[in-house]
Amino acid sequence: MALDISVERSADAAELADLINRVYADAEKGLWQPGTDRTNTAEVDSVIRAGELAVARLDGAVVGAVRVQRLADGEGEFGMLVASPEHRGVGIGRELVAFAEGWARAAGSPVMQLELLVPRTWTHPVKEFLRDWYTRLGYREVRRDPFELAYPVLQPRLATDCDFVVYHKEL
Ligand SMILES: CC(C)(COP(=O)(O)OP(=O)(O)OC[C@H]1O[C@@H](n2cnc3c(N)ncnc32)[C@H](O)[C@@H]1OP(=O)(O)O)[C@@H](O)C(=O)NCCC(=O)NCCS
Repeated sequence: MALDISVERSADAAELADLINRVYADAEKGLWQPGTDRTNTAEVDSVIRAGELAVARLDGAVVGAVRVQRLADGEGEFGMLVASPEHRGVGIGRELVAFAEGWARAAGSPVMQLELLVPRTWTHPVKEFLRDWYTRLGYREVRRDPFELAYPVLQPRLATDCDFVVYHKEL
């Protein structure tokens, strides 16, 4: 598998926004009001321009992405992690997380953070899979915040009460 991952500053924002929205529409089914997109072309464009979007390509075609950031307090963070539904289970997600961790380490971050949106009163199979996988990768829950406190403006778009679970891993 000729998988290539790099931070791309001239990637196609519309193509990536479409992939991210397509993946999240399925992965976060039941959490959001119908018609709520995870992102849009303008937001992805600004992430690309900031040099924060790593793109995975398989023989040149986009098959995944992850947003990498250095937070104000020096921690690294990754988000918007997606693997194309047509290429699941072949290691793209694992390679993207490894890339993000290497990126943060190179930027001098001692810790990597990620946030997981989870329903408060029921279990979501995708989120259960992610919790187990991130735990296998060495991530530990450090905080759980009610979504409405973290992002009050977005609360009306939720379809069910949710929490933001924050995970950390020492790099
Ligand atoms: C999370 C995601 C990026 C993983 O991508 P992927 O390329 O399919 O994953 P990988 O092939 O790298 O496998 C990741 C892990 O899942 C396991 N896995 C993959 N497919 C599996 C399957 N069908 N059943 C059980 N486990 C599976 C792998 O064994 C691996 O675990 P390991 O690292 O302990 O060996 C992908 O599922 C996705 O896009 N999900 C929706 C978006 C999302 O929820 N993103 C995260 C937001 S925080």
